[in-house]
Amino acid sequence: VAGTLGGRRVLVQSGRFHGYEGHAPATVALPVRLFAGLGAGTVILTNAAGGIAAPLGPGALMLIADHLNLMFANPLVGPPIPGDPRFPDMSAPYDPALRALARRVAAEQGIGLAEGVYAGVSGPSYETRAEIGMLRVLGADAVGMSTVPEVIAARAAGLRCLAVSIITNRAAGLGAARLSHEEVMREAHGAGVRLGRLVRGVLAGL
Ligand code: HPA
Repeated sequence: VAGTLGGRRVLVQSGRFHGYEGHAPATVALPVRLFAGLGAGTVILTNAAGGIAAPLGPGALMLIADHLNLMFANPLVGPPIPGDPRFPDMSAPYDPALRALARRVAAEQGIGLAEGVYAGVSGPSYETRAEIGMLRVLGADAVGMSTVPEVIAARAAGLRCLAVSIITNRAAGLGAARLSHEEVMREAHGAGVRLGRLVRGVLAGL
């Protein structure tokens, strides 16, 4: 969808390609490549994720400060796309100034916003309890099955990135229940209203 939001011209993508659907990493990143080609300077990514860090329960919003690429795949493998660096820097993929803006908007609007490290895994099976224990040791605060390929390609293309996770469930072994897609969808829709306000405020502050 193309339009105006928060006073900015935006392209909004509904849904995304996931590696677990059988798409190559570069295909997953194709929409981001398209946005960059059309002249976008900033990409705002959202996702659903399981909470690993103690305060991250269903309905929480987490600003992604950094990620762990545990998909064992990278969208930049192969001949570089013209204009891409061969070895893009990834020391600060989530733009510090955009993160500061998001924190400011959240504080102004009374929206709770945690911040942490997102572990990207391939899925589609949810993690085992042992895997969540491993991810915690590795420094992950939340886990999900998307976003990492898009951010890698976006950085290679020179886009500034902001990303926010909706925590839809406690990760495996940390909550009472079995994980279900239905729970993930329910919580995502519930928190989506708050996330929408946050995104609009960020756009207005760009
Ligand atoms: N694990 C991986 N991906 C997810 C989860 C989870 O617990 N919740 C939502 N997406």
